[in-house]
Amino acid sequence: MPIINRIAEFHADMTAWRRDLHAHPETAFEEHRTSELVANHLTDFGIEVDRGLAGTGVVGTLRNGDGPTIALRADMDALDILEANDFAHKSQNAGKMHACGHDGHTTMLLGAARYLAETKRFRGTVHFVFQPAEENEGGARVMVEQGIFDRFPVDAIYGLHNWPGMDVGRMGVVPGPMMAAYDVFEITVTGRSAHGAMPHQSVDPVVTGAQIVGALQTIASRTTDPQQSAVVSVTRFHAGDTWNVIPDQAVLAGTTRSFRPEVQDHIEASITRIAESVAAANRATVEVRYERRYPPTINHAAETRLAAAAAAAVVGTDNVVENATPSMGAEDFAFFLREKPGCYVWLGNGPGDGGCLLHNSKYDFNDEILTIGASYWATLAEQVLG
Ligand code: NI
Repeated sequence: MPIINRIAEFHADMTAWRRDLHAHPETAFEEHRTSELVANHLTDFGIEVDRGLAGTGVVGTLRNGDGPTIALRADMDALDILEANDFAHKSQNAGKMHACGHDGHTTMLLGAARYLAETKRFRGTVHFVFQPAEENEGGARVMVEQGIFDRFPVDAIYGLHNWPGMDVGRMGVVPGPMMAAYDVFEITVTGRSAHGAMPHQSVDPVVTGAQIVGALQTIASRTTDPQQSAVVSVTRFHAGDTWNVIPDQAVLAGTTRSFRPEVQDHIEASITRIAESVAAANRATVEVRYERRYPPTINHAAETRLAAAAAAAVVGTDNVVENATPSMGAEDFAFFLREKPGCYVWLGNGPGDGGCLLHNSKYDFNDEILTIGASYWATLAEQVLG
């Protein structure tokens, strides 16, 4: 596998950086230590550093003559998970964990930055974007709102995520939608409490809520075009405190996923319509809150071809899945792709055995792929700015 030899030479350094980041996870907009560490490394490599976008964001800039400008992006944040691993580099911040491999993403981009600053075999400008708060809070959206592309205009932006379940040495990409839109909802059902033995005196929010959960299943199965993807998951149902009291309220919440704007609009309208109608049939009332979180991650065709070519140069054509099946997971890189052309790829992290899955308390980023990911970034920069 033609990983870049110079990058392979500092694999031990990258492994040490990655494990240090893993041991010190920080969550949304609190990536202070991580941000400092990234900025210090970039400065050591001789790269111009700008700090403060979206609070803890770092943008490194490396210029080499005239040419196009691209951005390469890594996310730096961890998750609110109590780590179940017991190795030397396990989380030292109880309840916080790098369970999505953003420690590896940050390290691979640092590795590429070090190599590109040393060799400069490209013409143009590379911006290394280290963003906060990819999980839930949309750090990419905040960077866009705070004018990242006004301050650092780019021709294209590229992103990457490790992918457990995909073999080491394989990469995946697809033009068009690759990750879904991510929304959340909350339905508050209000009835009237009564003795559990006298249900006729109540307006039962538990029975009403249960019917709403059932009826919501028809959105994906009965009213969305079967050729389109839609997910409506109720993930929370809170009601009542004891055996013999029908409570006043039930609160349901969940998430929805879709790729197309018309499907997203349909899901939102359907949740409201179903909740209100079922409640009315039961003499209860509802309040529905629906919040759009992340748009779908949509790869641009030309940049997808460039990304696939760079991936093929590193792992071999046979190891690049160019028609990867999109995931219903979501990614805030979508906010960057709404502003600029670009492409987001998956990098095989190896088998998901023993809970080595994204957002699992037994997950760990596979250090074996640090050189592959960093070589991909470096090759992409050299090819696009060749
Ligand atoms: Ni992630």
